[in-house]
Amino acid sequence: MERPGKLFGLWALLLCVGGGAAYPETQPPVTNLSVSVENLCTVIWTWNPPEGASPNCSLRYITHFSNKQDKKIAPETHRSMEVPLNEKICLQVGSQCDSNESENPSILVEKCTLPPIGDPESAVTEIQCIWHNLNYMKCTWLPGRNTSSDTNYTLFYWHSSLRKIHKCENFSREGEHIGCSFALTMLEDFSFEQYNVQIMVTDKEKKIRPFFHIVHLASHVKPDPPRIKSLFFHNGYLHVQWENPPKFLSRCLSYQVEVNNSQPVTHSIFSVDEDKCQNSEFGENMEGTICFMVPGILPDTLNTVRIRAKTNKLCYEDDKLWSNWSQAMHIGENAKTTLYITMLFILPVIVAAAIIILLLYLKRLKIIIFPPIPDPGKIFKEMFGDQNDDTLHWKRYDIYEKQTKEETDVVVLIENLKKASQ
Ligand SMILES: *[C@@H]1O[C@H](CO)[C@@H](O)[C@H](O)[C@H]1NC(C)=O
Ligand SMILES: *[C@@H]1O[C@H](CO)[C@@H](O)[C@H](O)[C@H]1NC(C)=O
Ligand SMILES: *[C@@H]1O[C@H](CO)[C@@H](O)[C@H](O)[C@H]1NC(C)=O
Ligand SMILES: *[C@@H]1O[C@H](CO)[C@@H](O)[C@H](O)[C@H]1NC(C)=O
Ligand SMILES: *[C@@H]1O[C@H](CO)[C@@H](O)[C@H](O)[C@H]1NC(C)=O
Ligand SMILES: *[C@@H]1O[C@H](CO)[C@@H](O)[C@H](O)[C@H]1NC(C)=O
Repeated sequence: MERPGKLFGLWALLLCVGGGAAYPETQPPVTNLSVSVENLCTVIWTWNPPEGASPNCSLRYITHFSNKQDKKIAPETHRSMEVPLNEKICLQVGSQCDSNESENPSILVEKCTLPPIGDPESAVTEIQCIWHNLNYMKCTWLPGRNTSSDTNYTLFYWHSSLRKIHKCENFSREGEHIGCSFALTMLEDFSFEQYNVQIMVTDKEKKIRPFFHIVHLASHVKPDPPRIKSLFFHNGYLHVQWENPPKFLSRCLSYQVEVNNSQPVTHSIFSVDEDKCQNSEFGENMEGTICFMVPGILPDTLNTVRIRAKTNKLCYEDDKLWSNWSQAMHIGENAKTTLYITMLFILPVIVAAAIIILLLYLKRLKIIIFPPIPDPGKIFKEMFGDQNDDTLHWKRYDIYEKQTKEETDVVVLIENLKKASQ
């Protein structure tokens, strides 16, 4: 992989000698002033002491950037600065014999970096980097105006824990925005004040102008949402307990507690800067567990609670990035009432459905269990009804009786015959 630092060292060399030669009997100027770029945006100026300085002189060097910014008087023969190299940066160096700003400084010598090559309109714009939960950094940007839509972007990054410049691989696209994220975790003995992340966005084909960006690690930190552990009412307060995202100290975060009430519909936000029930009987006082007592919440209505967090000025520089809202949690009587109402409506429906099904199923059984009741009217009708029918009935009966009688006669006759023969 090509090391981009080399490339930028090349075009970062430009000598422009400036300053006036108006002072008589001044110190001779410094020699061999040069500038180089290390990493992505670390600019280093070095020079040699002036030739022919007075032997009694304790040499000091006065340095400043264009427009006399960041003036410094020091004995070292170098000065460095982390600076996004999107435009040329010039350092002016002079020598003098004491630590105070001399009345007779030497001629100032100036050396500038070169601005990046390419059409300024092709550089990416609106670059923004966010350090998510101290786990990874995601930078997003918009394409420059003079860029083809199939530009193949690359992002290089460097920070002091890395030996060399790294290339970001994890690209994403959200609408117009292009993004790339890379792992960035907090290291042991990590102190934010010292560390910046240097970023350069360019393209594979080297058609667009590179864009440099420096992210201070104490800023642009977006924590993960907190996790609500418990909600309960006690002494007229709604107690909310939640857990910090790991890696964050409680004192380094500020919170908002949102409570939405269903009846009447209200929406309240409470700002929490510190653990408010630290000495309460519930405070387990575990690091990373925060508690807040919300006043004026009625337990007989449904309340929906959410929490979000952001870094604060105690530990971080930037305090504008809120985390996402946590998962919502509910508390209050209304939840039970709703359940009762649901049961009240659903139970009869279920019971009715069950009965109907049972009835349909039992339609046949019914016939078996309760046979059809004989109709007495029909019997009476048969007994005292139509006379013609009746005569027929009786005649039939007559014949039947006669036949039985005849048969009996025959049997008696046969019996008699048997007796006679014995
Ligand atoms: C300036 O640099 C050149 C080459 O690196 C060296 O020969 C010369 O001695 C240097 N001048 C001073 C004053 O150090
Ligand atoms: C330098 O200092 C020495 C003694 O410390 C002194 O004798 C000499 O005059 C001084 N030279 C100048 C140019 O000030
Ligand atoms: C530097 O300036 C301060 C006041 O600005 C003065 O008190 C001090 O003596 C000066 N030091 C030298 C070495 O001239
Ligand atoms: C980006 O890469 C693709 C595939 O490698 C190539 O077709 C395209 O031309 C590249 N874009 C530019 C602007 O060169
Ligand atoms: C925050 O919300 C956005 C949008 O809903 C989602 O894409 C993202 O993953 C969430 N981040 C976290 C840490 O949950
Ligand atoms: C609470 O109410 C506000 C304002 O009506 C709304 O924006 C928010 O989404 C509600 N929260 C929940 C968890 O529904």
